[in-house]
Amino acid sequence: TSFTYESHLPLAELPLTRAPGCPFDPPPELAEVREQAPIKRLTFPDGHEGWLVTGHALVRAVLGDQRFSSRPELMHYPLPGVAFDEMPPGAVGDLTAIDAPEHTRFRKLLIGKFTVRRMSLLAERVEQITAAQLDVLAEHGPPADLVRLFAQPVPAQMICELLGVPYADRETFQRHAAVLAGGEHTGEEQHAAFGALAEYLHELVLAKRAHPTDDLLGDLTGTDLGDEELAGVGAFLLGAGLDTTANMIALGTFALLSHPGQLAALRAEPDLADQAVEELLRYLSIAHTGQRAALEDVELGGHLVKAGETVVVSVQAANRDPARFADPDVLDLRRPATGHLSFGHGVHQCLGQQLARVELRVAIPALIGRFPTLRLAVPAAEVPLRGGLDIYGVERLPVTWDD
Ligand code: HEM
Repeated sequence: TSFTYESHLPLAELPLTRAPGCPFDPPPELAEVREQAPIKRLTFPDGHEGWLVTGHALVRAVLGDQRFSSRPELMHYPLPGVAFDEMPPGAVGDLTAIDAPEHTRFRKLLIGKFTVRRMSLLAERVEQITAAQLDVLAEHGPPADLVRLFAQPVPAQMICELLGVPYADRETFQRHAAVLAGGEHTGEEQHAAFGALAEYLHELVLAKRAHPTDDLLGDLTGTDLGDEELAGVGAFLLGAGLDTTANMIALGTFALLSHPGQLAALRAEPDLADQAVEELLRYLSIAHTGQRAALEDVELGGHLVKAGETVVVSVQAANRDPARFADPDVLDLRRPATGHLSFGHGVHQCLGQQLARVELRVAIPALIGRFPTLRLAVPAAEVPLRGGLDIYGVERLPVTWDD
């Protein structure tokens, strides 16, 4: 790309290309920007002069400040192709696209369903599902695509059980969820995919109203959420539960296979799992970039962000800020990585984070324990990576092992 960086000028484009030769490191330009100015002017493709925030303390401050809105229709888009007045509001049920008080209403209804205690009760099911899926992988034999045979099916079965969505319908909802997850798809296609997913959920919700079931969607039929709202929340949770953890399992495995010393440490010491998962979350920052719109003038890091301006927060830059983490570019499973912003921060902080943690703490150690000779089946440079503003990850992860 034509990246130009002069410290006194606005940044001409948002750096999004990860470091050449290292699929785990953020774009090197971000480190340069963060060092010079943790908050900096960014010129958007539509000409808007907004901001890019890269320092850990400031990213955290933006995410924790409700003077910054999450509504997409108030934001300028940092990549070419979408004009300001073309950003549609979020779909019904998309919690990340609304502000208080609408957001508070949904959040209050959901928060009790995702507590640490409730999620740890699911650990046993995660173990069973993981073990069964490892059998599938072993039966398939090497080489295999880890994404399709392990990283996707484990979280998919968990979110289906939690919500009360039949896993047998996966052909239908995974197709829509894949479009939603981005890749080559346009905003319109994604909108249509969310609509299709919500339609599928709508029928399910009507069935649950008629015959209540003991699961999260069944529980929610007892609240004041209408059918459309309930279907929308269901579609959003299903999408969030399918795409994110799967990317962490696959990319996390890729990172471990690329750092044999760390892999060996985790194999030797399964007790390291909790800490290792936090560090992988920090190091990989799959939800790498966020956005907010200032609702009023806000003083931020010595600058005045004016009402109406769009602020891009670089979570991946914040998670590699040397002011917050020592040797931030080193993957060190033993470091205390708490304080990373990979699940966001503030009122929109990830509701599914305890579920994701339980899944990752079980799935990754079980995988490397079951296959001691697990390795990439292709050169690392040939593993297809995701791009743009999507959740980061690998499209496929060809692996092999000694049978
Ligand atoms: C929100 C990351 C797994 C449900 C978020 C946000 C991030 C995030 C960064 C904040 C978005 C924002 O501020 O706009 C992740 C990562 C995951 C993960 C990295 C896996 C490793 C899950 C799972 C679920 C889930 C398994 C389960 C259903 C949600 C929900 C929200 C959310 C409901 C919206 C919260 C709100 O706006 O109030 N997630 N997530 N996430 N996540 Fe996750």
